[in-house]
Amino acid sequence: MKRTAIIYILSIFLFSNSFAQSLKPLYENPSAPIEKRVEDLLKRMTLSEKLEQMTQRVIGQNNNASNAELDKRNYSPLTGSFINFSNNPGFANEIQRKAMKESRLGIPVLLGMDVIHGFRTIFPIPLAQGCTWNPDLTKKSCEIAAKEATLSGIKWTFSPMIDVARDPRWGRVAEAYGEDTYSNSQFSVAAVKGYQGEKLSDKYSISACLKHYIGYSLSEGGRDYHASDVSPLTLWETFMPPYKAGVEAGAQTLMSAFNDITGVPASANYFTLTEVLKNKWKHDGFVVSDWKAVYQLIDQGFASDSADAGAKAVNAGVEMDMNDEIYVKYLPEKIKQKEVQMSRIDDAVRRILRVKFRLGLFDNPYVDDIAEASRYLQPESQKLAEKCAEESMVLLKNEKTVLPLSDKIKKIAVIGPIAKDQVNVMGSWTCNGKSENTIGLFDGLQKEYKNKAEITYTKGCDFEGTDESDFANALNIAAQSDVIILCLGEKRGWSGENASRASIALPEIQEKLAAKLKEAGKPIVLVLSNGRPLELTRLEPLADAILEIWQPGNFGGNPFAGIISGRLNPSGRLDITFPKVTGQIPMYYNMRPNARSSMKDWNGLYQDVKNDPMFWFGHGLSYSNFVYYDLKTSKTTFTENETISIEVKIKNSTNVDGQETVFWYVSDPVASITQPMKKLKYFEKKEIKAGQESTFIFRIDPKRDLSFVDGTGKSILEKGKFFIEVNSQKLAIELK
Ligand code: NOJ
Repeated sequence: MKRTAIIYILSIFLFSNSFAQSLKPLYENPSAPIEKRVEDLLKRMTLSEKLEQMTQRVIGQNNNASNAELDKRNYSPLTGSFINFSNNPGFANEIQRKAMKESRLGIPVLLGMDVIHGFRTIFPIPLAQGCTWNPDLTKKSCEIAAKEATLSGIKWTFSPMIDVARDPRWGRVAEAYGEDTYSNSQFSVAAVKGYQGEKLSDKYSISACLKHYIGYSLSEGGRDYHASDVSPLTLWETFMPPYKAGVEAGAQTLMSAFNDITGVPASANYFTLTEVLKNKWKHDGFVVSDWKAVYQLIDQGFASDSADAGAKAVNAGVEMDMNDEIYVKYLPEKIKQKEVQMSRIDDAVRRILRVKFRLGLFDNPYVDDIAEASRYLQPESQKLAEKCAEESMVLLKNEKTVLPLSDKIKKIAVIGPIAKDQVNVMGSWTCNGKSENTIGLFDGLQKEYKNKAEITYTKGCDFEGTDESDFANALNIAAQSDVIILCLGEKRGWSGENASRASIALPEIQEKLAAKLKEAGKPIVLVLSNGRPLELTRLEPLADAILEIWQPGNFGGNPFAGIISGRLNPSGRLDITFPKVTGQIPMYYNMRPNARSSMKDWNGLYQDVKNDPMFWFGHGLSYSNFVYYDLKTSKTTFTENETISIEVKIKNSTNVDGQETVFWYVSDPVASITQPMKKLKYFEKKEIKAGQESTFIFRIDPKRDLSFVDGTGKSILEKGKFFIEVNSQKLAIELK
């Protein structure tokens, strides 16, 4: 009896629920297929509702001086997206409630934010992350960033930046994963997977945004926002692959760049945005312009006024207009004049709605408002941030094995503007990160050497300026110590957006301080924190050891101290070349061969400086010594459908456990399109215990690893000889 009653009540409940559901429009039905929901909603929308979806506004106070914008509370509830500068979940819910309740159709808003290397827990800058050669760490850091962001109501990040960066004058080298195309592709995939998780609709997933599409890093002279002259070959060979990889990994959005690409601005470029991205790669998410990039088409001389700019951008394939309200204001007239077709508007809105549905925003627009202490900076986040920082630090020089410091060292002088810094070491784009959470270098050393050595400190000088008043004191402290840890570097505002530098040397005052301390006659460990490769010509000879720590984020202090003491073994390798002097730029490992390279006259190219850089891409020392031997191939000759295996043995000949990154390069000495001197095709990082050996294998798929592209993006595989290089070993193979 009781059972029958329960079944009866249950069926009434289910029936009334599905009845209620059947009264609702299809797009509100969570169990209907997404594409059907999109179409249903789209057909109900008016033009102005559509154009609002294509509009992104800013809410809250921006902390980026280059993109400053005041709080706009008086916004339309129809707005498609906001860049939300608040981390308050209550505020996010308020915006969301307004969108859901006050817009006629109840369309949720997509809240975005520049979550670049962390949301509240700040990880090392991307350029540093590239030096870990451990994309899994990046994936995990993006998972943490996504979780902290979603707990604040943010469901979209403008990251990763995968602009292959070869000009260290350009401040934005800090935001990419270095100078190589293959490694940027690998990190692109890792970041997308980390942010977007297993499923976009998962509670802690956010949408990634590949940026800045495309050619931005080639802006002339490293001047930000400047035009880029990108040949079709360079476009396909160097810049497209990381984007293709990110799109294939499922990235929902891309950001169109500020730059002009050889005459057609990236934000109005039909070829890159539509022919390649949408037609060839079948990307079905959407493209947002960079900040006022639509308006900037006028400055670039590509559009006559705002209306023309809006029409050109939307027709080229930019679906959302970031913060200049051009679409919503000017597209109606362009549609009337038939310069923009309704089908293009529908396609744009369809793409935006699709991403919102996939993120689960229609069914679950609100976020739980939990206490800040449970949202951010969880112990596992700090642990991961420390691991990332540890693996990103690169030991550039270590003469007479100054590092790790011997146990005999009892007095350590810590000097320099970075030593106690908590702000600049966080790097640019620190989102909601706070400097008070930073464990600085001095803090790390104090903890590491507690009861083991005495640590003295003075600043010595500031980042810039001419004040030498602390030099004498610094020299005195240095003279009384066993070793000097000299912590120099850049301010965070010297890299990132709109932060190009005509010289990549540190300001003279810092170089002068180093020269002064040399007078103490003590070993100098130079520690560098910066967002770009530096010109070290004058500093390098003064230092016995150089440790590049980049801008390690909030938690660099402990791993840094661990490397100094030998508790940790450095394993970072450069993802970008350090030229000797600024005038050598561009300088990167995979340049095309010089016409006189066979004459071994590599030094004759400049009269005033040798032509090799200070440190090549891939450089980095360890406390272990890794010996490479026995490089061999499963086959020396093969055909295009065969896979071959190449292996090398590596022995850790020391009594220190260490991690080694193996870089597998391919070179193609003769081709119908000349090829770079070598190309990185695979890398692998593994721990090799003290005294042990390990075998590393590179499986070559000829079509993937031995082909090259032409200026149309076509992949070409030519028969003949190739060389495989690993460390200093080289082996010839032949495709028959
Ligand atoms: C401009 C920057 O170029 C871009 O990287 C960033 O995502 C947007 N502003 C939004 O802040």
